[in-house]
Amino acid sequence: MTVSYLGAATDTAAIDAAISDFCAERRADAAGLGQDVAAVVAELESYVLNGGKRVRPVFAWLGWIGAGGDPQDPAAAAVLRACAGLELLHASALIHDDIIDASRTRRGRPAAHVALAELHRERGFSGDSEAFGTGTAILLGDLAQTWADVMVRASGLPTDAQTRVGPVWSAVRTEVLYGQLLDLINQAGENEDAEAALRVNQYKTASYTVERPLEFGAAIAGAGADLIADYRAFGADIGIAFQLRDDLLGVFGDPAVTGKPSGDDLREGKRTVLLATALERADERDPAAARYLRSRIGTDLSDDELATARRILVDVGAVAHVERQIAHRTEQAMAALEASDATAFAKDQLAAMALKVTQRAR
Ligand code: IPE
Ligand code: IPE
Ligand code: MG
Ligand code: MG
Repeated sequence: MTVSYLGAATDTAAIDAAISDFCAERRADAAGLGQDVAAVVAELESYVLNGGKRVRPVFAWLGWIGAGGDPQDPAAAAVLRACAGLELLHASALIHDDIIDASRTRRGRPAAHVALAELHRERGFSGDSEAFGTGTAILLGDLAQTWADVMVRASGLPTDAQTRVGPVWSAVRTEVLYGQLLDLINQAGENEDAEAALRVNQYKTASYTVERPLEFGAAIAGAGADLIADYRAFGADIGIAFQLRDDLLGVFGDPAVTGKPSGDDLREGKRTVLLATALERADERDPAAARYLRSRIGTDLSDDELATARRILVDVGAVAHVERQIAHRTEQAMAALEASDATAFAKDQLAAMALKVTQRAR
């Protein structure tokens, strides 16, 4: 595998190649257990390789470059493999998240549990297809998490780099799970506190999407404490802004572009910063709108009700407020990046990535 990656931070072909090679090396194991097992495991490979922006490996890779890593160094291939492991961790989180949230589409395709229910039907298996889909997708999510770990540990990184990366790798895996737990608990408790929603964002998204991936790359390079602190400040702000954008897309996004259903956040009653802000503002300005939101959020809203809820979010100024938060976090992040010791090339690339992930439509 060649590392011809860093022409532009948006060229993710080398990350895909690393994941593809890794999955191919595991095919024989599954095939040894029979055709059906191989077909189920193949779903994981196609899930990981079809779609996805590769945000986490890219941030990790740039974190390494910014700390002095040289993409021309023959040892860079091992770094790239380790960074690509973050994408398998992400796949695990997404597969499980779609089961938890009962979301049927992801990346413009059927969610893993939906695709596996279909496989059950196609093969004429007995029993409940949906239950089979859910059961096998839980296992594939676990397998993705295990493979993520294998990909990092067997990446070929030197022992000292492995030792530095170990605590970051543990933290990233733990924090995303805490974030998902917090998310479910806030939703079940109908928590209306914007600070609580922000904490969920920090754990559920910012940590494993930007902050820890940058630290992961920096740790491989043996970066000093100052650069790591600056990366983490930048990463926390961009990661939160990324999730705030996701909250907006979850309500107003075009499913044909995001590849995810639109409006499901409101139907599920997800406790986003957007919703918390809307409720707080509606309480002050438009109590009837506040009552409307509280009575409909978390129910199976009709299209008309969804349109009304969307209008309220705009009218009470919640959307504009979240947009301002995104702009403010991005500005703050850019200042931390600029003041850091990251290499000039990485600063440019990271600034471009920051804009790309916070201004995206998908
Ligand atoms: C989706 O992440 C999950 C969130 C944390 C918002 P991405 O938006 O990076 O998803 P893909 O990988 O590009 O599909
Ligand atoms: C889930 O992705 C986030 C994680 C995997 C941690 P979504 O894009 O479905 O976002 P949620 O479910 O709204 O957080
Ligand atoms: Mg979800
Ligand atoms: Mg979720």
